Amino acid sequence: MDDCCGHGEARYGDVFDERFAGDLERRYRRRGLTRAEQRVAERVERAGVAGTSVLEVGGGIGAIQLELFGHGAAHSINLELSPAYEGRARALLAEAGRAADARRIVGIDLAIDGDDVPVADHVVLHRVVCCYPDAVRLLAASAAHARRTVVFSHPPRTWLTRAFVGVGNVMMRLRGEQYRGYVHSPGAMYDALRRAGFTIDSVDRAGWWRIASAHRA
Ligand SMILES: C[S@@+](CC[C@H](N)C(=O)[O-])C[C@H]1O[C@@H](n2cnc3c(N)ncnc32)[C@H](O)[C@@H]1O
Repeated sequence: MDDCCGHGEARYGDVFDERFAGDLERRYRRRGLTRAEQRVAERVERAGVAGTSVLEVGGGIGAIQLELFGHGAAHSINLELSPAYEGRARALLAEAGRAADARRIVGIDLAIDGDDVPVADHVVLHRVVCCYPDAVRLLAASAAHARRTVVFSHPPRTWLTRAFVGVGNVMMRLRGEQYRGYVHSPGAMYDALRRAGFTIDSVDRAGWWRIASAHRA
């Protein structure tokens, strides 16, 4: 992988580690999707999911993909920069009887070396652009891989979210972690999709998350 900007597996794997993945899995098994995950899945379903393919960037344990399989999605690809989720994700897919329909790839950053990643009908990024330094580039690459829709979540850019993420970044620095969080400009992210030929259909709220849904015009 061309890790030109230092966005590598170590940076993400150290933070999004076995413990983080275990917490996600336990929560999902007990309570199903979070409200924000449900909203992301609904936005894909609204665009028509039966028989379609889904590419999820940074999909973690794959909970949204499992939901979309339940609504008729035919195939999914998950890209991750942390290897910590793989065993749990594969177990969940096997339990759902969908292991053969899902491909999981660790270590390919769509924004940098996505040329060999297949296009899909729907591209999803939940809680990912706020972990990535160049959200505009990542969304442009996502749009280039989406035949129909891009649905992504992001935090609102307020003083509160910037302060929250800023404090988190200070703690990361003190712990010697390379990982940083970001509160990118929503307008710049929506414009990246518009420049790629997409129309923003809706921006919904789910807790503090904003869920933006766009379709190819
Ligand atoms: C906060 S976690 C969210 C995981 C999952 N989407 C969820 O909501 O449970 C962010 C994830 O995005 C991944 N990530 C960040 N940038 C990425 C990229 N360019 N390609 C693939 N994964 C990425 C990280 O490795 C991390 O696992």
